[in-house]
Amino acid sequence: MLVLGIESSCDETGVALYDSEQGLLAHRIHSQIAMHTEYGGVVPELASRDHIRRVLPLTEACLAEAQRTRKDIDAIAYTAGPGLAGALLVGASVANALAFALEKPIVAVHHLEGHLLSPLLSTPRPDFPFVALLVSGGHTQLMAVRGIGQYEILGETVDDAAGEAFDKSAKLLDLGYPGGPALSKLADTGDATRFKLPRPMLHSGDLDFSFSGLKTAVLNLVNQQAPIDDQTRADICAAFQEAVVEVLLKKCVAALQQTGMQRLVIAGGVGANKQLRNALNEAARRRKFEVFYPPLELCTDNGAMIAFAGAMRLQYATPQYSYGARPRWDLS
Ligand code: KG4
Ligand code: ZN
Repeated sequence: MLVLGIESSCDETGVALYDSEQGLLAHRIHSQIAMHTEYGGVVPELASRDHIRRVLPLTEACLAEAQRTRKDIDAIAYTAGPGLAGALLVGASVANALAFALEKPIVAVHHLEGHLLSPLLSTPRPDFPFVALLVSGGHTQLMAVRGIGQYEILGETVDDAAGEAFDKSAKLLDLGYPGGPALSKLADTGDATRFKLPRPMLHSGDLDFSFSGLKTAVLNLVNQQAPIDDQTRADICAAFQEAVVEVLLKKCVAALQQTGMQRLVIAGGVGANKQLRNALNEAARRRKFEVFYPPLELCTDNGAMIAFAGAMRLQYATPQYSYGARPRWDLS
């Protein structure tokens, strides 16, 4: 079964072709980051217009790369939510028009289910059940995943998402947008011991997170240290990153203990963070659990995870056939 996947929930247009026997045949991403940079964040109307420009050329490029034609497509999966309403509607409209014209089934995919299942696109592939940490710009959640469509939220952020805290702190440090990767890179040259930042909710006894206080602590530090020289900026980055990584790591370990599971899956943009990966790998070695990541280029938003989640839904669970976008949509 050949599934076309379309992702357009935020500032990346992603298209992919996933074959249930041969795996991922092609995937293309167009990032709008350069377009939004001068505004310091995503401008929803510009995002929608750019998705309109990109989605069909990317689809044609994927078909050409996979040496397939539109007629070979067996089903179409698209991100129905959550995300920006106008941006989602572009993917929904194109996916539904194609499905109608080709007379093929269509599956509405939850964006987070796409992220959640993306580590299954790498080898070795984790078996169910596993604990999943979803860490993106919009979400920070720990989930127990027992199978396709069987998701239980164990804990989540009560305020900002981890990626959001990275981006907002980066902005306070004049590192541009989206600042997560830039902050992380600068942290490599910083001294994490110079400033001590809080570890919010580390000892809360549950699996919830809070990151907005950390961002405020960065703001206070920035004000206190002004004018900031390059080394101080790098040291704040290192202290911030260390605080986020420690909280994420401790809660992941607690989630594994609570569920008795031995596999941990990391998904979402912050999953690309090198220090987070090093800390998790080290803990996995010491505590004898396994940790899985999506391929690095599939950590952030992409069409491959949507095509894959759509294919899994069609095979193993009840697909959700519907035309529409759901800007707000809970996964479980
Ligand atoms: O999953 P994603 O592409 O989009 C959402 O669904 O939100 O995640 C984007 C988020 C941004 O907040 C970005 O700053 C963060 O992931 N991010 C990182 C890194 N790479 C991306 N944060 C920390 N370190 C990184 N290396
Ligand atoms: Zn995402």
